[in-house]
Amino acid sequence: TSGITTLDPGFKNTSSCKSAVTFLDGEKGILRYRGYSIEELADKSDFLEVIYLLIFGDLPTKKEKQQFHRDIQTKSLVDEDVKKILDGFPKSAHPMGVLSALTSALTAFNPKSVDVRSEKDMYNAICKILGKFPVLVAWAYRKEEGLPLAYGDNSLGYVENFIKMMFELPNEKFVMNPVVLDAIDKLLILHADHEQNCSTSTVRVVGSSHAGLFASISSGISALWGPLHGGANQAVIEMLEDIKADGGDYKKYIAKAKDKNDPFRLMGFGHRVYKNFDPRANIIKVAAEEVLNDLGIDDPVLDIARGLAQVALSDEYFKSRNLYPNVDFYSGIIYRALGIPVPMFTAMFALGRLPGWIAQWKEMRLNKEPISRPRQLYIGATERAYVGIDKR
Ligand code: SDX
Repeated sequence: TSGITTLDPGFKNTSSCKSAVTFLDGEKGILRYRGYSIEELADKSDFLEVIYLLIFGDLPTKKEKQQFHRDIQTKSLVDEDVKKILDGFPKSAHPMGVLSALTSALTAFNPKSVDVRSEKDMYNAICKILGKFPVLVAWAYRKEEGLPLAYGDNSLGYVENFIKMMFELPNEKFVMNPVVLDAIDKLLILHADHEQNCSTSTVRVVGSSHAGLFASISSGISALWGPLHGGANQAVIEMLEDIKADGGDYKKYIAKAKDKNDPFRLMGFGHRVYKNFDPRANIIKVAAEEVLNDLGIDDPVLDIARGLAQVALSDEYFKSRNLYPNVDFYSGIIYRALGIPVPMFTAMFALGRLPGWIAQWKEMRLNKEPISRPRQLYIGATERAYVGIDKR
């Protein structure tokens, strides 16, 4: 050791902070936001209320919720010049790259959001990102689809307005499908926070240097992009599509996942904390069946997902390593049924996780946490003298 620390790659055995936001019990498959179970919140609450709960610690009164929504709406316009940055991207740009860039760019248009000296400054910066980020997510999608960018309609609810910005067509009257609204609201609730996961830890690390909120969120978006983290929801559907193209032979993919010489992993399986089941996966699995049923969609990929999960869950390799479907395993099936393209799946995860990132950043700043700066175990060269290039 370097005298003061022990080696802990990936921080598997390290608690980086004290937090009152989210409670996980990996053994029992428990997930609670500020003490409320996700099962109750997914069933009885809505995403705007869960945003308030995570960030301010309690469920809002009707008046508090209305004021919070109004404060977000009045800060939801994105400077028109941000569109010039969006224009610079090729249509093929991955939405997560677009979103991390545009979110960081928000600092340039809202410089006062960096120095949050008072709770009021912090509240304003938080309402700005909550108002502008859904616009950016919708814009990333519209750019990819070659559709005109919109600002939505502040007479609508928070999630309703996002769906309208995403899907409205310039030449059609937009009609909200209640099945789509309910499914997206529930998915956003289930993705809202997850204690010190990779992207949230990233937001805390970047924020601990007192870089602004938008820069911290932008770094969280980049961390979430990876296929081992939020990017898994895209990788799951791509894997299921490959299996379908392979004639549905999921046993071959199970064998690949078990083969140590094959880097292939069963995407959507396994979790650092959950060692029996991911409670979110259980809820999303049921929601996937309901949504496909309500929309009258028969997606063969769902059957492949069910078959793959069944075989894996009875296989010694997966059981002995406590590998179960995680939040990403079924979510893509719903997104696809709702008409959301695969590259946007992780952007939907980011929209859901935004309040969690904000709540954890706020807690870190209010707790005056020190700048994150871990040590290392040095294994490099011992001291040696410089040799001129002519003598090398
Ligand atoms: C999310 O942290 C969070 O909370 C994240 C998240 C959130 O809400 O923020 O829950 C969201 O990111 C969910 C996870 C999405 N990722 C995937 O589905 C990608 C596939 N899963 C794996 O890469 C992996 O399971 C992780 C990344 C989720 C967890 O990795 P760990 O805890 O570092 O575990 P590990 O890589 O050390 O694996 C332990 C063993 C190894 O085998 P052995 O070396 O012991 O023989 O299990 C094997 C791994 O090879 N293993 C898998 C596997 N996951 C782990 N083998 C095949 N397929 C897999 N998916």
